[in-house]
Amino acid sequence: MNGTVELIIDGKPITLPTFVGTEGEVGIDIATLRSKTGAITLDPGYGNTGACKSAITFIDGEKGILQYRGYDIAELAQKSTFIETAYLLIYGELPTAAQLAEFSGLLTDNEMLHEGMRHHFEGFPPSAHPMAILSSMINAASSYHPNLIHAREEHFPCHAARLISQVRTIAAFSYRKAHGLPSIYPKTTLKYTENFLHMMFSYPGEDCELKPEIVKALDLIFLLHADHEQNCSTSTVRMVASSRANLFASASAGVCALWGPLHGGANQAVLEMLEEIHREGDDGTKFLNEVKNKTGNRRLMGFGHRVYKNFDPRAVIIKEQCDKVLAQLHKSDPLLDIAKKLEEIALHDEYFVSRRLYPNVDFYSGIIMRAIGIPVDMFTVLFAIGRMPGWVANFKEVMDDRDSRISRPRQIYTGATLRTYKPLAERA
Ligand code: ACO
Repeated sequence: MNGTVELIIDGKPITLPTFVGTEGEVGIDIATLRSKTGAITLDPGYGNTGACKSAITFIDGEKGILQYRGYDIAELAQKSTFIETAYLLIYGELPTAAQLAEFSGLLTDNEMLHEGMRHHFEGFPPSAHPMAILSSMINAASSYHPNLIHAREEHFPCHAARLISQVRTIAAFSYRKAHGLPSIYPKTTLKYTENFLHMMFSYPGEDCELKPEIVKALDLIFLLHADHEQNCSTSTVRMVASSRANLFASASAGVCALWGPLHGGANQAVLEMLEEIHREGDDGTKFLNEVKNKTGNRRLMGFGHRVYKNFDPRAVIIKEQCDKVLAQLHKSDPLLDIAKKLEEIALHDEYFVSRRLYPNVDFYSGIIMRAIGIPVDMFTVLFAIGRMPGWVANFKEVMDDRDSRISRPRQIYTGATLRTYKPLAERA
């Protein structure tokens, strides 16, 4: 039930409305705080700040709950596909067969990049990180669709499908470019995830084998990453969208935010950490001591989460999938053994227990991706492909909200107070 709350500021009481979400979360609506009191709130890192109302994804970090549009992530992981889930996130309901066919058709119709885009790929040095290529190329793609800039509502389904479809083509092309391999064009007969694997691993005249267990594992990784409410990259997308920048520009900014090792870049960082531990012949104990002593400013990558303080439900599903994929592919991986050892120690260690640090989605996803032949520097790119429907859904929510205003946080200024300019000759 919506109500009010009374705050005392500088001895004066003020009444503010509260807003209660459908899952019972209470927010104090401070929209009039500054005009009533002159004060603002200060919340670095936004741990206590709701930046929007959203009907897309619900997380209860204490209980380890994640739901897309009211559906539990474990149920979707078991019964749905990435593309069906993408539709659910963007349009709010599971699609009918006809809606799904139409959505899939739009994805196929828009999977090819404009030929002109090939020249842009040539401009990157071989050492370019695929995330740099991805964010630049998503923005570049917007130049080929001028009606994006002043997009009308009826254009949205086409632009959304184009972005979701082309991000996969761009990702595969950037991998091929980085490895000096010829680009492979998408095939209209293949489904979304199969097509990505085809563009990554086929050769002209020689299609790669699409093993169902690999397709399933990758589709699941995409699905588990598809949205995660107001994380750093999604908030970036919403902030850029709030200025009424176009969908591609907003998504390109999201890719940049995702790249950092404290966010989506953690999947690459986890693998690099495991490789380093393995190289040094450590079983994880020495590394964990370094983390706990905070000597080398190191963190156990893939552990901890701003919201999950119990467990990350995605990590549980991914860990199970990881064991399954390695068994199906008849592979063993010493890095998986190290990861399991690290997890076992950390889950019983006072340092991690007292800080409520548990494995997050990135802890095991890299091992699956490595097992299916994805190079480490592509891990975060795959996260971006998975997250695209969530960004599109959040972009749509901003655009559809008639009350939405440009995002413009305030600050508490801590710099010098007013002083007069000294000519150069008078400065010490
Ligand atoms: N390893 C060791 N210590 C950690 C870790 C970690 N992975 N994560 C947090 N801590 C410690 C901090 O040092 C701090 O300790 P202190 O109280 O002694 O100072 C305490 O736990 C709280 O940490 P914060 O940084 O305040 O937590 P915050 O909520 O801001 O950060 C984050 C969350 C960024 C995910 C953090 O846990 C982290 O860096 N994890 C490793 C990177 C990672 O896996 N990121 C992926 C997150 S999931 C995603 O984005 C898809």
